[in-house]
Amino acid sequence: MTDTVATLTIGDKTFEFPVLSGSMGPDVIDIRSLYAKTGMFTYDPGFTSTAACDSTITFIDGDQGELMYRGYPIDQLAEHSNYLEVCYLLLYGELPTPEQMADFEQRVTRHTMVHEQMHYFYRGFRRDAHPMAIVCGVVGAMAAFYHDSTDISDDMQREIASIRMVAKIPTIVAMAYKYSIGQPFVYPRNDLNFASNFLRMCFSVPPEEYVVDPVVAHALDLIFTLHADHEQNASTSTVRLAGSSDANPFACIAAGVACLWGPAHGGANEAALDMLREIGTPDHIPEFIARAKDKNDPFRLMGFGHRVYKSYDPRATVMQKTAKEVLDLLGVKNNPTLQVAQELEKIALSDPYFIERKLYPNVDFYSGIILDAIGFPTSMFTAIFALSRTVGWIAQWKEMIADPQKKIGRPRQLYNGAPTRDYEPIGNRWDRT
Ligand code: CMC
Repeated sequence: MTDTVATLTIGDKTFEFPVLSGSMGPDVIDIRSLYAKTGMFTYDPGFTSTAACDSTITFIDGDQGELMYRGYPIDQLAEHSNYLEVCYLLLYGELPTPEQMADFEQRVTRHTMVHEQMHYFYRGFRRDAHPMAIVCGVVGAMAAFYHDSTDISDDMQREIASIRMVAKIPTIVAMAYKYSIGQPFVYPRNDLNFASNFLRMCFSVPPEEYVVDPVVAHALDLIFTLHADHEQNASTSTVRLAGSSDANPFACIAAGVACLWGPAHGGANEAALDMLREIGTPDHIPEFIARAKDKNDPFRLMGFGHRVYKSYDPRATVMQKTAKEVLDLLGVKNNPTLQVAQELEKIALSDPYFIERKLYPNVDFYSGIILDAIGFPTSMFTAIFALSRTVGWIAQWKEMIADPQKKIGRPRQLYNGAPTRDYEPIGNRWDRT
């Protein structure tokens, strides 16, 4: 709390509200007593000015284009750390010692297999189902397979559920992929690192041994790291809202997966690559830029813009560099999608429409190019985002459950429907059309 108070004047009455300061970022006006004092609510659809919780996990400075996990800048983590270490950092708040890391790795790798009965559960889906539809269903169903870790009041069960989610989500996503292409499920291998194991579960087939390309594994690990958490975004807020009712963790994560799927959020990586392919060649770019600027056309440049970043998305900076490196190392010469992306970025960033609205490429603009080069179909992109973000959702869910100030999330509304009226018996109603 600061000594500052915010004063609100409504008519001839004045009300005071405390101003709270965090360790970084804007102060917040604590309006929890607003309704009791004034009989009024605030109105903030889309939560553009609302801090919904107090958190110690991730910090974003949207104007400066900065992202930190537990205080560590994302570019440092991308360069020096790896996804599993980042998982530890997000879940437990500090970078691990070598012993802590070895223990964590051991705990994660001991939980990578899914209950054998889940294989039959997959078989109930159509083969052409979108992987996100399958992942959403299977994650929700985990409560039915692992009901011994659904008591959220038990610290140990919460911990086991967290490890189970982080460890099994690659297996669940890889199985959704294998199912969609009619290939047998591949069991996890615990001697491989996190990304390599996922690649093997996706791309190996029984007739031959799959050799993981370290370049590809490193690029994928980077994608996982860059997507691991992102403060109170739509899917994380969904997980928190679901969890605020004390729902079990698997149900909460399934809610997060469902929210992430939308093209304005995690679905943007699939939509961005589809868009780049539709543009096809740089000479078609002006046509798409014109459509993005046309208020009568719902088309938006996918992979552009962000609610919080009003400068370059720091994840996009790393992703752009990695995309070029991966394509070079994989020997992909003159990739037309990368060429269109680079040219589109250049043209958009010099256009007053995008400059005035501070619209920059976001993380989803370049990630699809890397995933495509690795060999994933576009339908898998958002599922890979969900895999990466699971640890962030879990860390945020754990933080919320342990917060003594936790309350069920219950927004209010500005009601604009019919005022009170009396019921009309059906025979007295006239045709209103
Ligand atoms: N293309 C063209 N115009 C845009 C775009 C875009 N991608 N994004 C925003 N605008 C315009 C928008 O039309 C509005 O213009 P005006 O002020 O004239 O009405 C202005 O910029 C502000 O847009 P907004 O919709 O009020 O901004 P928002 O903060 O509500 O939306 C967003 C943020 C990410 C949903 C939006 O920028 C968007 O739809 N981008 C494309 C989808 C995308 O790439 N999403 C991934 C986000 S990053 C990863 C993640 O969150 O999962």
